[in-house]
Amino acid sequence: MMNRKIYRAFVVVASMLAMTQVSSTQADEFTDEDLARWQQEYMAVVDKGEKLFHGGLSSNNTVSCDQCHPNASNTHPETYPKFQQQLGRVAELWEMINWCIENPLESAPLAADDPRMIALQAYIAEERRGAVLEPGKH
Ligand code: HEC
Repeated sequence: MMNRKIYRAFVVVASMLAMTQVSSTQADEFTDEDLARWQQEYMAVVDKGEKLFHGGLSSNNTVSCDQCHPNASNTHPETYPKFQQQLGRVAELWEMINWCIENPLESAPLAADDPRMIALQAYIAEERRGAVLEPGKH
């Protein structure tokens, strides 16, 4: 008969192995169809962001993002997080977007996980695709 301590150790090792197998299967396996679907979902959010950026975001005036940032110019998502003078601290991109929503657009800020905020960031990042990451840069 198996000694109880050895048996317990065996159970622990066996369950650890099982967990590794499960998580590596979940993390690694995806198909071309999965990739196509993820790209499609991503681009749908980018498109939504583009519309918001070009006047689709409700504001308390007639101002829209593209008036000052045509095609997301001068948005520099690749420099975040960085110190922003307007906020007086190191901030993330979405916080600076909110600064523009509250000031030039005179509107209410969006929550970080608001789908509109995610879409605006996706559009801005997509427009700046390929820019070298330079967090903190001015
Ligand atoms: C009236 C002009 C104006 C409008 C409209 C405007 N912005 Fe800005 N935006 C600015 C100014 C000025 C800054 C500050 C530049 C700085 O100090 O880096 C800025 C900064 C930014 C930054 C950070 C840029 C950087 O280099 O760090 C982002 C991102 C941004 N705006 C996004 C938006 C979005 C999204 C909208 C629409 C919701 C918007 N802006 C509307 C003028 C504008």
